Amino acid sequence: MKNFLTSTTLFLIISFSCIAQQKENRQEDIFIKNLLSRMTLDEKLGQMNQTHFNTTVDSMCMKVRKGQIGSLLNIDPKQINRIQRAAVKESRLGIPLIIGRDVIHGYKTIFPIPLGQAASFNPRVPENGARVAATESREQGIVWTFAPMLDISRDARWGRIAESLGEDPYLASIMGAAMVRGFQGNKLSDNNSMAACLKHFVGYGAAEGGRDYNSTNIPIHLMRNVYLPPFQKAIEAGAATLMTSFNDNDGIPSSGNDFLLRTVLRDEWKFDGFVVSDWESMSEMIEHGYAKDKKDVARISLKAGMDMEMTSETYLKNIKELIKEGSVSVKDVDNAVLNILRIKYRLGLFENPYVDEKVVSTIYSPEHLRKARQAAVESAVLLKNANNILPLKSTAKIAIIGPMANAAHDQLGTWSFDGDKNKTITPLKALQTEYSTVNYVYEPGLTYSRDKSLNFYKAIKAVESADVAVVFVGEESILSGEAHSLSNINLIGQQSELIKAIKSTGKPVVMVVIAGRPLTIERDLPYVDAVLYNFHPGTMGGLAIMDLLFGKENPSGKLPVTFVREVGQIPMYYNHNNTGRPAQDWIPAMDNIPQEAPQTSLGNTSFYLDSGKNPLFPFGYGLSYSKFEYSDLQLSATEIPQNGSLIAKAVIKNTSKVDGSEVVQLYIRDLVGSIARPVKELKGFQKIFLKAGESKTVEFNLNAIDLAFYGRDLIKKVEPGDFEIWISKNSDEGLKGRFVVR
Ligand code: NOJ
Repeated sequence: MKNFLTSTTLFLIISFSCIAQQKENRQEDIFIKNLLSRMTLDEKLGQMNQTHFNTTVDSMCMKVRKGQIGSLLNIDPKQINRIQRAAVKESRLGIPLIIGRDVIHGYKTIFPIPLGQAASFNPRVPENGARVAATESREQGIVWTFAPMLDISRDARWGRIAESLGEDPYLASIMGAAMVRGFQGNKLSDNNSMAACLKHFVGYGAAEGGRDYNSTNIPIHLMRNVYLPPFQKAIEAGAATLMTSFNDNDGIPSSGNDFLLRTVLRDEWKFDGFVVSDWESMSEMIEHGYAKDKKDVARISLKAGMDMEMTSETYLKNIKELIKEGSVSVKDVDNAVLNILRIKYRLGLFENPYVDEKVVSTIYSPEHLRKARQAAVESAVLLKNANNILPLKSTAKIAIIGPMANAAHDQLGTWSFDGDKNKTITPLKALQTEYSTVNYVYEPGLTYSRDKSLNFYKAIKAVESADVAVVFVGEESILSGEAHSLSNINLIGQQSELIKAIKSTGKPVVMVVIAGRPLTIERDLPYVDAVLYNFHPGTMGGLAIMDLLFGKENPSGKLPVTFVREVGQIPMYYNHNNTGRPAQDWIPAMDNIPQEAPQTSLGNTSFYLDSGKNPLFPFGYGLSYSKFEYSDLQLSATEIPQNGSLIAKAVIKNTSKVDGSEVVQLYIRDLVGSIARPVKELKGFQKIFLKAGESKTVEFNLNAIDLAFYGRDLIKKVEPGDFEIWISKNSDEGLKGRFVVR
């Protein structure tokens, strides 16, 4: 009886909420269509125009009053109410503006850069981060962010790897969807929600040579199986908007790609939000050589399904003429405008267009700072810890060295326009405040990461006076992010020399990296005993790092990208195809090759003579102060039908004396497919907490449908056959089993 009641109640709740949703959708539809029916063509084109705030408030208000602007970006929040009033009270139809801004990993309270958040392998980290960002932004009147960036990135030269969620489509899908949920909350109209914008659609992270804005050549199977899935998952999570990318793929710039914007996005995925171009990415189709002039740009993009134009104004200036000529229709325009109005409606802008100036600010609230600190803790990855040198003893005298120990601005990372460096807690500041009982001496040795001076005398003296050196190295924030690609990703300036000089003192050395990308640090490893890697960790990074160094917290992050040994190994990623000649375990060391060795004596397999076949650290790698042992892999079935599922489980034991968290990872390999399949694919992960000595059985439910991919016929389905499966601590090792899909 009780069960019956529970299921009936559940059924009624679901039915009522479906009915309520349908009613709301109907109201929304009636509202936006009614509004559209009253709009002139000029007003429609105004809605499709997004302007960068680059003039005086008065001249901006004039355009807004005339209905020439639908959205503004980069406006000083203090001006929002004034300009919104011009739209709502002084324009003919009173349509509110949608105010956008790049709130990428925090508005004021800055969280770790997205690559760092991905390293947490904990979806609550990006979800909380986006929630905090939305809460702080919306109270200022910013209702739309240009995040998350879902570009799969397998090239550390590309500066925007910082803003990515790494190299893996599964991880990026989970973390990206979590960010969407965080930004958008329960309801877009809530006073702490903002519309997410998925970017950059699509393939931008595959820029040739890792040089930003460069062309991409992603074949359709790779596009379908790797680059598109994170976008689809984020749309399923309800993302309101999407931005096209700068690149051309196979010759077609994204802002003019009707296959992507119509067939994939609307017909297949049923996206009902709006699409915005990137900054002048529409007019740049002229430079690409894909459009003749601005009029051509407007025609191509409108036909392709672009709803709003960011900054280049080709719609505003050309569509009327194009309609007259018959090359585009009013219906094309109407569709775009309806998409935009729909999101404005969902954001509640027609009811609440203004910022509440009396609201008590949540910016830098203790709760936000606590979450940012926890995110930075979970985003750090311990890569080396020889002789358990970490955690440090609180009684030890520490020499704090290196240019990143007190880099308040740089620690915030790329895309932190609004973060205040005076609020940043650097590692040094953490020692001056919460960790003030620590006995330390500070001598940076270098003033900033590119510093080329070689006078390390004071730094060496400081280390000689201490028990252990902690050297903070890495990159200034300007060295990663948009348009900031590098062709050499070694530690920049004289940082490697500084490390060597410190090592020469004979004292133990801990290297703490604070950077925007995976750097090639192999050459530095022999000179350090431990490495704690932090992707620019944000406002609370210094405290988080001290928490980890002193063992108040235990590292639990795992790499969301492969760390290569040499830049020339790029692209190197764990989920690659096998080649017909995969490298054998034995690889000759280049220096041992005899002179005049016969051509085939090295074995004709796929590796580099000078850097081998392996990366420095594989995807999913990360150490802890705890030790975890994996055993007893069991599969609930070794044969499953194409609509079936199996449970894979293993026992994970914390064999150490320290409590800790471990990211348990599930990988599969589809051994034979209608197209060659990757050697491994991540299909699940769980972050579990184990007390010292504790064991847990971790279970993954793997549905056969999770194995589906776009094969030779470009239809997504499960192909029967043999599979390998691993439960493991990283992508390079693990307990291995097999099963068959019939
Ligand atoms: C260009 C960048 O590519 C994009 O990510 C950003 O959101 C826009 N500019 C707006 O600033």
